Amino acid sequence: MEKILIKLDRQCLSYPIYIGKNLLGNIVGLINLNGYSQVMVLTDNVVAGFWLKKITRAVGKNAVVAVIKNGEAEKNIDTVRTIWKKMVQSKLDRRSVVVNLGGGVVCDLGGFCAGTYMRGIDFVNIPTTLLSQVDAGVGGKTGLNFFGIKNNIGIFNQPKAVLTDVVFLSTLPERELISGMAEVIKHGIVADKKYFESVVGKKPVDFSSKELIEIVKKSCLIKTAIMEKDEKEMLGKRKILNFGHTVGHAIESLSQATDRPLLHGEAVGIGMVIESKLACLSGLLKEKDYLRIKDAIKNAGLPITTPHIPVKKIIKKILVDKKNQSGRVLWSLPTAIGQVECNKEILSVNKMVKIAYENN
Ligand SMILES: NC(=O)c1ccc[n+]([C@@H]2O[C@H](COP(=O)([O-])OP(=O)(O)OC[C@H]3O[C@@H](n4cnc5c(N)ncnc54)[C@H](O)[C@@H]3O)[C@@H](O)[C@H]2O)c1
Ligand SMILES: [Zn+2]
Repeated sequence: MEKILIKLDRQCLSYPIYIGKNLLGNIVGLINLNGYSQVMVLTDNVVAGFWLKKITRAVGKNAVVAVIKNGEAEKNIDTVRTIWKKMVQSKLDRRSVVVNLGGGVVCDLGGFCAGTYMRGIDFVNIPTTLLSQVDAGVGGKTGLNFFGIKNNIGIFNQPKAVLTDVVFLSTLPERELISGMAEVIKHGIVADKKYFESVVGKKPVDFSSKELIEIVKKSCLIKTAIMEKDEKEMLGKRKILNFGHTVGHAIESLSQATDRPLLHGEAVGIGMVIESKLACLSGLLKEKDYLRIKDAIKNAGLPITTPHIPVKKIIKKILVDKKNQSGRVLWSLPTAIGQVECNKEILSVNKMVKIAYENN
């Protein structure tokens, strides 16, 4: 089949993001693996079942392979320890490279382990979920969950290259594809109304490969354009990408302990609805825009409520979010579709979140 390849080379980012279809045969050439002393492929057991053979065939048989269990629950310090151990046992040296083959969990953990092993070795991402192709695989945030709090241990660490092939999405369960669409919709809401309208016009499964390539490309462009202004989230500009994540992270963490754990995108979808309602209640967002956002999220097939998680617990969790400063919750809230403002404070967080939650 025809190869499609788009190379995004952002000025601020010293690495290319290749986006296309059927690129896997040329991994070594595209991401320049020949210069390394050793290659370690990190993946999870589910991705391994579908794709590992193809990848190791392309990377070369001398590659070391580390397979972790799949799922958000594995994004913890014990898994990090297992990966570090494998790196030591495989005698990776400072000129080795880690190839993260998987979704956001593998990319987050692999980037963290590469960045901390021997004070940092190179890594590349080969994201295999829509969510990691448009978000987790690009941007350089890496880390793990600790003490029941999402992503609160981590480092900024940029990959050497990202290779995104939409062919991976052919084996992805529909629920995971829809979860990834939450971040795509978020990119529209924070930066581009036209993009928002184009991605909510169809059910996620109905997009063709060509359309998916365009979606991944546009989302990467939006994300990297924002990062260019504020790579390490020091100036506040990158914070607009946190829209939906203050409530979303709280819900995602809490749901892990229930019999219905939510996926990252699902929690973010609910977070975006509640935070849009908060914006609406605070007079920042028009009611009709809030309703449009809510409808779009629902129509994509994402949940918009969490009846199994008490709002009191969500509020408690929001108050320990790592995005807070000096105990203040600083929100990234939409003021229109295509525009989000950050560092917004809300008077009486408890009361407002409760109202937003109960009235969404
Ligand atoms: N670093 C960042 O900037 C950033 C941004 C967004 C999300 N995240 C993190 O990413 C994680 C969520 O990422 P995710 O949604 O990719 O989850 P994931 O990595 O858990 O992958 C989802 C599931 O799909 C399976 N899978 C992956 N690729 C597949 C494929 N091609 N075919 C079949 N199955 C496949 C995995 O085994 C897993 O069970 C969260 O931990 C979140 O915090 C990080
Ligand atoms: Zn996210």
